[in-house]
Amino acid sequence: MEEMHEKGLSKNQVLQQLESKLKADLAYDSGKILGSMCTKAHEFAEQIYVKCLEKNLGDPGLFPATAELENEAIRLLGSLLSNTESCGHFVSGGTEANIMALWAARNLSREKQREVVIPVSAHYSLYKAADLLGLRPIKVNLNEQFQVDTTAVKEAITSETLAIVGIAGTTDLGVVDPIPELSEIAMTNELYLHVDAAFGGFVLPFFKELGLANFDFDFKLPGVSSITIDPHKMGLAPIPAGGILFRNGALMKGVSVEVSYLAGGNTEQSTIVGTRPGASAVAVWALLMHLGREGYKTIVNGCMDLARTLAEGVERMDGVSLVTKPVMNIVGIKSNRLDVDVLARKLRRKGWAISLFPKHIRVVVMPHVKLDHVHNFLKDLEKIVKEIR
Ligand SMILES: Cc1ncc(COP(=O)(O)O)c(C=O)c1O
Repeated sequence: MEEMHEKGLSKNQVLQQLESKLKADLAYDSGKILGSMCTKAHEFAEQIYVKCLEKNLGDPGLFPATAELENEAIRLLGSLLSNTESCGHFVSGGTEANIMALWAARNLSREKQREVVIPVSAHYSLYKAADLLGLRPIKVNLNEQFQVDTTAVKEAITSETLAIVGIAGTTDLGVVDPIPELSEIAMTNELYLHVDAAFGGFVLPFFKELGLANFDFDFKLPGVSSITIDPHKMGLAPIPAGGILFRNGALMKGVSVEVSYLAGGNTEQSTIVGTRPGASAVAVWALLMHLGREGYKTIVNGCMDLARTLAEGVERMDGVSLVTKPVMNIVGIKSNRLDVDVLARKLRRKGWAISLFPKHIRVVVMPHVKLDHVHNFLKDLEKIVKEIR
């Protein structure tokens, strides 16, 4: 049993123990992490993060400059998502952002409206949110392109519906739901529409300029009420950095409380948690300023190129195929003949950290993934496929 020492160890002793205990962790630059939506944080953002460790956004009166930087960074993200009027916060991740969205939607709704229409492809955080908030998730199926079936969405709406969720970059395949249609449905039925772009938020805005398929998914669409966009995924920010943006301040009002005792003075707080890392917000601000649209566009372009290389390699292989042509830098690999569970187990035994969904293996081509990692993975995949075929 672990017991706390009476007398502390020296820093060196602790560091030695730590070195050995941390050995079991994987590192992004090992080239083996192919199933994570997080990545190695940008070095500049790490530097800024460390500089701002003591900043607490839970008491903004003490740290007004940090609070203003958070607002500025939110406005910068707002401009990326076609709405400089939007407001919101940096939170612990996409999960908390999704909870915030449904929390706001519930508090703005009428008492009997307690149903949320959610695509079956939604991230599990939306079910957590519904559970926490006493809402009933109404699951709707997908069309053949793995997008939410909008006819099914319309049919699922009742007098008890308060919100619809659409996804811009599904967790399993990176697919984008038809958000323009969802926006119209939301407007017609006067419903709250939350778009989960936790992954896609830092990818899709650059597609048009990169000559890739253009998707409308953001505040340009009048029915969109809020958007989850996570800097700690494709935004390259240090963990934790999720983002929740509301179309306007009125939507966020539903979750704000007055806090009167804080050392920094009376505060209106509209987050789930109190104490919050200012370092996350400042690091995001610094990174957005440093990389600019051009920097992010280059990163997205690199990931999309590698995702294409991977997808082409899979297509050429006998025994496995693509679930669907990748929309973003997420590649789904399936097999009609082989057991994907066995395939995944063997890949994992070779050290590949890939994700396994019920019918496919998912590779997320994040910025830490390099060309030789993709080639090595394809080689191992081919070997294993031949072995078990
Ligand atoms: C679409 C989507 N939304 C939300 C989340 C949750 O994000 P987090 O793990 O940062 O809470 C994820 C995580 O993969 C996701 O893919």
